[in-house]
Amino acid sequence: MVDSGLIHQDFQRRLRAIPAQGMGLSVDVYSPDLLELVNRLRERRLQPGYLEIFKATTTALTKVRQELSDIPLAYHGEGLWITQPDVQSSPCFQQDLGEMVRQLNSLQSLWLNHECAVKQMAGYSFGTYLPPLYTPLSARVVAANIATVQQTMDRQCARADGTAPLFLLELPPLTYFSAGTIPIHDYFRLVTASVPCGLVLDIGHLWTVYRYTAVRRRISLERFVAEFLAEFPLERVVEIHVAGLACHELAVEPREGQGLPEWIDAHAAPIPLILFTMLEQVLVHPNLVSLRAVALEVDTKSIEMIVEEYAAAVGRFSLLVQQAMARDTSVGQLKETMLCPALVQEPVRQSDRQQLCDDYERYAEIISGQAPIAGLEWEEVAMEPGGLTRYRTAYVPHEILHWGGDLEGMFPQACQALADRGVCLAEFVDFWFRSPRPVTHSYDFFLLKIGRFFEFVTERAPDLCVTVQQECDLLRLAYAQANEGGASIMEMEQSR
Ligand SMILES: [Fe+2]
Repeated sequence: MVDSGLIHQDFQRRLRAIPAQGMGLSVDVYSPDLLELVNRLRERRLQPGYLEIFKATTTALTKVRQELSDIPLAYHGEGLWITQPDVQSSPCFQQDLGEMVRQLNSLQSLWLNHECAVKQMAGYSFGTYLPPLYTPLSARVVAANIATVQQTMDRQCARADGTAPLFLLELPPLTYFSAGTIPIHDYFRLVTASVPCGLVLDIGHLWTVYRYTAVRRRISLERFVAEFLAEFPLERVVEIHVAGLACHELAVEPREGQGLPEWIDAHAAPIPLILFTMLEQVLVHPNLVSLRAVALEVDTKSIEMIVEEYAAAVGRFSLLVQQAMARDTSVGQLKETMLCPALVQEPVRQSDRQQLCDDYERYAEIISGQAPIAGLEWEEVAMEPGGLTRYRTAYVPHEILHWGGDLEGMFPQACQALADRGVCLAEFVDFWFRSPRPVTHSYDFFLLKIGRFFEFVTERAPDLCVTVQQECDLLRLAYAQANEGGASIMEMEQSR
């Protein structure tokens, strides 16, 4: 048994090591070029209070630390699938953890931010973030995995002042659907009751929670935000993100007055004004007592748009951010209910992990269209299946065929030869999800695509083996050179 009051005190002890940062940016090293972006901001006297940097090569991150020696840095991790019950037994887990430690140290990072989301589950791979199953068991598992990662950081990471970075768990976006048995705010309260992590509240992600759950039919957005913040463990929010939203390229924008747009997370897109209204509602909330930083998340966006959006956001919010950061964080100021003694967690047994493995296997099969919608955590989805249908019939095929590497662009000869033989590329989607595949390498969607497409082509047209092998070799070589030479995975994969 763990005591959630002691857990919260541990969180506060760790939080004290993080100075207030104010407003900043969450960025990619290369897309757009980070040094050029900072120079342009400096020309406008808009140097960010801090930068949160997305995972890149350790060499690139080390260079950023050297070049931007006067700006505090934080780290946006990727690929540690802490929502997954079997992540710690993955053959890549220790290697991924080691790389994360090296990158945190090379940045002298204030924290590790990681989405509470996954791109690989039960042997199936996807290109963009999927939310966890919002169930009590899933919350216990993610908390246990975070505890392991935090222990590793405590042992192996050190900033100049001797403190270790704090794990921050980010509220993930919904892409048309959400599955679970408990409200999302309760899920995060269960997590924070049993592990001393902080949270990142992403305002655009919160908008997608409203858009793609049944609550939007019942209450206004403003009321939803108020009710969500009343239940969410806001006292653990250390950082706030605000990023762009946009309709998927396959979606049709609704006509004026015809309901909410089907926006999804889209960092290259402009930040909709409604998110700034929501941000204001969050910043003035009295339970927001641990805030250290607010970032516009602007990877893959044009420098011009970033500068304009950042200037406007600083002008409008810097005072409110300062006031929020100045709120008293002492435990005495918190309501007893925030410590949530009723939500004390049990340790995770092996049988629990196996149960959740089975749940995630069904999750992957349902969203890839191999299994019908069934099970307690899918009841709400079953009542209104349109969002999931859009995900599995339009979004996923697009992801496999075009996103993060367009197959016809990557394999022009093999694709042409397949077309000549009457093989439709859409069949590759079924091939991709035909059976689970054991994880053997750290997650990389571009390399996964190359490997799986080779298998697909050689199965459907064995005589194309040499042709497709040559194209695979060229792609892998170009990809390795691009990563070493400074172009990013992001540029090849478009967005995260
Ligand atoms: Fe975010």
